[in-house]
Amino acid sequence: MKKSIKTSIRFLSMIMVVIAFITTIILSINFVDKNNIFSVTNIIVLVVLLVIAFIAGTINANLIIFPLKKMEKGMKSVSEGKFIDTKHLKDYTSLTEIKELIESYTSMMELIKKNSFDLNSQQSKTEIILEHMADGVVAFSISKQVVHMNKSAMRLLNIEKSYDTFDKITSKLKIELDFDKIMYLPNYKSIETKITVGENALNIVFVPFFSDRLSPMGVIMVIRNITESVKLDNMRKEFVANVSHELKTPLTSIKGYSETMMTGDLTFAEITRFAKVINQEANRMDRLVADLLQLSRFDYKKVSWKKMMFSIVDLAQSVCEKMQYAAKEKNHHLECIVTVEPPNVYADRDAIEQVIMNIVSNSIKYTREGGTITVYVGSINGNVYIKVIDNGIGIPPQDLNRIFERFYRVDKARSRKMGGTGLGLSIVKEIIDGNDGTIDIRSEVNKGTEVIITLPTKVKA
Ligand SMILES: Nc1ncnc2c1ncn2[C@@H]1O[C@H](COP(=O)(O)OP(=O)(O)OP(=O)(O)O)[C@@H](O)[C@H]1O
Ligand SMILES: [Mg+2]
Repeated sequence: MKKSIKTSIRFLSMIMVVIAFITTIILSINFVDKNNIFSVTNIIVLVVLLVIAFIAGTINANLIIFPLKKMEKGMKSVSEGKFIDTKHLKDYTSLTEIKELIESYTSMMELIKKNSFDLNSQQSKTEIILEHMADGVVAFSISKQVVHMNKSAMRLLNIEKSYDTFDKITSKLKIELDFDKIMYLPNYKSIETKITVGENALNIVFVPFFSDRLSPMGVIMVIRNITESVKLDNMRKEFVANVSHELKTPLTSIKGYSETMMTGDLTFAEITRFAKVINQEANRMDRLVADLLQLSRFDYKKVSWKKMMFSIVDLAQSVCEKMQYAAKEKNHHLECIVTVEPPNVYADRDAIEQVIMNIVSNSIKYTREGGTITVYVGSINGNVYIKVIDNGIGIPPQDLNRIFERFYRVDKARSRKMGGTGLGLSIVKEIIDGNDGTIDIRSEVNKGTEVIITLPTKVKA
């Protein structure tokens, strides 16, 4: 309503009150019939006075009711999330009490508006966090209905939105849990369980949530993917079991042979043979412990690389010479070929020598008698590579991506017979990573294996 109209209404109301007042006086003085109270004149005067009073009262009442109605409308619209501007409402009335009421109402509305804004922004912040977190979160109301489920929860549990109750979700996951038991857990504790969904190991926590008055409002389910930590835990257990086993085998031989020797009734030839076995087994243990210590130094980052520029051709040729004896023992043909003269590489020379020796020794071990092992050295697009190719027994495809794991062997018995512990390639991988190189293995069963290494030629900035 425009200000001019409001002012006119107020003016009209005042006029009406004044008219009523004047009329009453005039009528009382001039027209009232004092002899007969119920005379026609008196009744007419009364009616006129009542009409004037009614009109004046209605107008005045409207000036009070209008702002009140506006405030009522304002309150109703708050529940729909709308806020009506009530600041100018006090212009409609001249009554101090109503003005004060409007002022209180307006400041209350401002407070509600601010709180509602804060609440909304808090809510949208919470929703964004929930949607983008890696952990899954599902909230259930007291009636077991899903009130919120983030994307991670759907992905981890492999469910869609149609799983909208506690019972549907827990029965799909085969979790036997009583909702009420979670709701009324003593001391607000939580219930934790571990399940597997597809390839993922999941840790699930159910925890009740409460209102301000600490009465239970529902249950929150938090889902965490623990696949990696379970894998690591299994690897750790496997590692301990492997170390114990690898140490136990030579120790049993050493113990057995030394006990037999202690009986005293052995020939010199037997003693020599037994001592040889003991020595072999002790060497095996020595190698194993040395490998484990080297890996442990990698793990604790205790290795300081002595990096320098050196000729990879010279190194590869010297390794081939050193390994000729072992290759000849199995009638292998081992040679080193330089395809394109490569630039010098920047790495730890001794460590790279260990790498090439390890790979060539694998080729010698895992190639049947009379095989061919070739070490190619060259460069392509400025990258220096060393390629070791054999025509040995090869590695099955399912084992290829596990070959760098500690103690991993395709054929444990065969590898052990050849003195292998399954640590060689894991050490190789650590050295290559530490020297900013790459390593790749391609293999085909009964055809052969190809190991390709690249090394940097420049000092890393
Ligand atoms: N050239 C190859 N041909 C066929 N199999 C191979 C070859 N190189 C490695 N392997 C397979 O990979 C496994 C792991 O190799 P790795 O060098 O880590 O261990 P190892 O040779 O058994 O023992 P270690 O090197 O510790 O003496 C071997 O046991 C073998 O099964
Ligand atoms: Mg090896």
